[in-house]
Amino acid sequence: MGWNTRITKLLNIDYPIIQGGLAYLAYADLAAAVSNAGGLGQITAMSLPNPESLREEIKRLKTMTSKPFGVNYAIGQHGRPFEQMVEVAVEEEVPVISVTGGNPQGVLDLIADHPIKKLVLVASRRQAEKAEELGADAVMVVGQEGGGHLGRSDVGTFVLTPKVVDHVSIPVIASGGIVDGKGLMAGLALGAEGIEMGTRFIATEECVDAHAIYKQAILDADENATVVIKRTLGSPARALKNSWTDQILEKEALEAGYESIGNYISGEANKRFIYDGKATQGFGWAGQGSARIHDSPSVNTLIQSMILEAEDIQKKWSNVR
Ligand SMILES: Cc1cc2nc3c(=O)[nH]c(=O)nc-3n(C[C@H](O)[C@H](O)[C@H](O)COP(=O)(O)O)c2cc1C
Repeated sequence: MGWNTRITKLLNIDYPIIQGGLAYLAYADLAAAVSNAGGLGQITAMSLPNPESLREEIKRLKTMTSKPFGVNYAIGQHGRPFEQMVEVAVEEEVPVISVTGGNPQGVLDLIADHPIKKLVLVASRRQAEKAEELGADAVMVVGQEGGGHLGRSDVGTFVLTPKVVDHVSIPVIASGGIVDGKGLMAGLALGAEGIEMGTRFIATEECVDAHAIYKQAILDADENATVVIKRTLGSPARALKNSWTDQILEKEALEAGYESIGNYISGEANKRFIYDGKATQGFGWAGQGSARIHDSPSVNTLIQSMILEAEDIQKKWSNVR
């Protein structure tokens, strides 16, 4: 099966598989592994402390791969200016930038005159239309199954993807709940021209910063093992359910506001679980697809197995009379 879609052509990659931004986890090792395996790997810019450390990470990535890669900007969530971080990407001539977490216009304007491909993450039809208007080259549509920050409405990938496909003319990338070749084929069947995965890439050998306890929690998860926190703050996000998220939800039920949960949802609380493996003293983002992740292979093994599975499905479909 040929894997040519508008997304593989746009991004100059072999397979329409994109590694999503992963706060505190997506650095050069993971991004290089994904790009070398034929997908698009990304560094998550705003996890880095300053522009110079981003520059170093981009340079490190360039020594590890000659393939296209992206830099992801979650604007808004970190309360930090992004302009200088974007300028570094421009100066380093990164091939692709993706934006999420707020109005993408500021980032898109900064890179408008540069030959950088522009991906915008959206969680609604309206956001997708807006991204197209602002000049995005493609949108990544994240359904409610996904790990990390989500849209405010509860629409899942299966409905949101074709809905967006019907309303924009730029190519669409499906995201949220995809972990294997079945998900890749499902995304394409829904009209997307590529897929993005976040949680699946955490359980890989090259996601070197994720603690073994966090990875194991993803492997052990069933379909009820994640919860959405931060709804009451207007920024819902999906994490592995544990005693820490139970406490957050109890406080949210009392509508106690940011003051009461600020420390519970901080980057420090996140790092205690994902870096230090303190599973009762913090939280780890993960999507519902965790229920279907059962191993932690190399990224190349993962992507090859996805492609084999997808091609097998394609063969079965072509035999259906
Ligand atoms: C641990 C974790 C951290 C994430 N951090 C970011 C981020 O910094 N920027 C971003 O655009 N998306 C982020 N996301 C969302 C992913 O890029 C992706 O859209 C999402 O994981 C897709 O759903 P899936 O987990 O079911 O594959 C994060 C997701 C996870 C699981």
